Amino acid sequence: IAQLPSITESMWVTKLVALSLLAALATAEEKKLSSHASMLADTSASLAFNLYHNMAKDKNAENILFSPVVVASSLGLVHLGGKSSTASQAKTVLSADKVKDDQLHTGLSELLTEVSNSTARNVTWKIGSRLYGPSSVNFADEFVKSSKKHYNYEHSKINFRDKRSAVKSINEWAAQTTDGKLPEVTKDVEKTDGAMIVNAMFFKPHWDEKFHHKMVDNRGFLVSRSYTVSVPMMHRTGLYMFHEDSEKRLYVLSMPLAHKMSSMIIIMPYHVEPLERLEKLLTRKQLDTWISKMEERAVAVSLPKVCMEVSHNLQKHLGELGLTEAVDKAKADLSNISGKKDLYLSNVFHASAMELDTEGNPFDTNIYGSEKLRNPKLFYADHPFIFVIKDNKTNSILYIGRLVRPKGDKMRDEL
Ligand SMILES: *[C@@H]1O[C@H](CO)[C@@H](O)[C@H](O)[C@H]1NC(C)=O
Ligand SMILES: *[C@@H]1O[C@H](CO)[C@@H](O)[C@H](O)[C@H]1NC(C)=O
Ligand SMILES: *[C@@H]1O[C@H](CO)[C@@H](O)[C@H](O)[C@H]1NC(C)=O
Ligand SMILES: *[C@@H]1O[C@H](CO)[C@@H](O)[C@H](O)[C@H]1NC(C)=O
Repeated sequence: IAQLPSITESMWVTKLVALSLLAALATAEEKKLSSHASMLADTSASLAFNLYHNMAKDKNAENILFSPVVVASSLGLVHLGGKSSTASQAKTVLSADKVKDDQLHTGLSELLTEVSNSTARNVTWKIGSRLYGPSSVNFADEFVKSSKKHYNYEHSKINFRDKRSAVKSINEWAAQTTDGKLPEVTKDVEKTDGAMIVNAMFFKPHWDEKFHHKMVDNRGFLVSRSYTVSVPMMHRTGLYMFHEDSEKRLYVLSMPLAHKMSSMIIIMPYHVEPLERLEKLLTRKQLDTWISKMEERAVAVSLPKVCMEVSHNLQKHLGELGLTEAVDKAKADLSNISGKKDLYLSNVFHASAMELDTEGNPFDTNIYGSEKLRNPKLFYADHPFIFVIKDNKTNSILYIGRLVRPKGDKMRDEL
């Protein structure tokens, strides 16, 4: 009898624990982004299109691949290190003038942490970020601490007197950060007298429905009408969201990544042609329109099984989008980095390897032989296309780019 109350008590405690566990689970399920993180997700998606168009103007550019949320965090870093208009321009480029300074940093940090969570999202996304300064620089403790906390930045001094070994050490760090997937960020560094942002990344989508690893063969990819390279091509038929815009002569296909938390949206012209025509059409609004018109249907997808390695120096492009002071030696005030007005942003290397592979989650095989997969639309990606990896939860854009020239041996040039 004496023990009875204590048993009841312990049961009550057990219930309480169970209840609070449930509550914790529920909050984990519903965990929404803070309002400023959502806003930054939105503005970084707009930045994606502005930056893409700026980069596509460059006639020498072929493949494009960058992560707008990571570029946004680089702008956050410039803001953190900058003062007065050098700092405020970083906000303006991100259309985040109205966001308070501390919310800018916590919001960008929250967004990046959410979208790069490999466990929750079942994608491989390694992101290495480093700020290099000339050997004369002294990084301020406060800056080192907060840039590490918000943006996961490492800091390093580099001596360009021996340029070759300086470049080599950058590339070695990038390779190490990406498990060897990105062996090279740059062959050379032209301006060696400033601070340098380097992002080295490896992204590998894990499909919501995998391709069969044996359904891969070598096919031609038409870089242009007169230039074909040989690439491994993977094939599968499944139910996908798909839209054919017959007026604009293009297809839009959405391929969900694992857990449907994000998807790779591919915009491809009917036939091989320079992508300029599509790029003129490509706005955020137009993409939303295409997405809204997509319908689920059977699609026979053929996609190059390739790894794209693309490195951009965004310094000039960010300057053209309005980050004019940070990149200008005479005007930059990045004195929160070192306590002195001795730095400007000389390079912004943004480099990624993206591996398109067959891997993904198993799927319901019962669908084969059913009515649903009859008469699939063909989506044969053997010529240049544009893609957007769009996040379903935050509406941010994880990657945007174009595949124009995959790695591969030249096949033939008649046609
Ligand atoms: C830059 O440093 C000043 C103090 O010198 C500080 O008041 C300000 O908040 C810092 N700016 C940022 C964006 O951290
Ligand atoms: C990533 O997601 C998992 C599972 O949803 C969660 O438990 C973990 O806390 C998340 N990690 C971070 C760094 O947010
Ligand atoms: C994704 O999920 C699959 C199957 O559950 C697992 O084998 C794989 O390691 C996961 N990948 C990542 C990056 O979490
Ligand atoms: C986005 O998530 C919702 C809810 O989980 C899901 O029904 C939908 O299919 C997803 N959308 C995409 C494009 O993956």
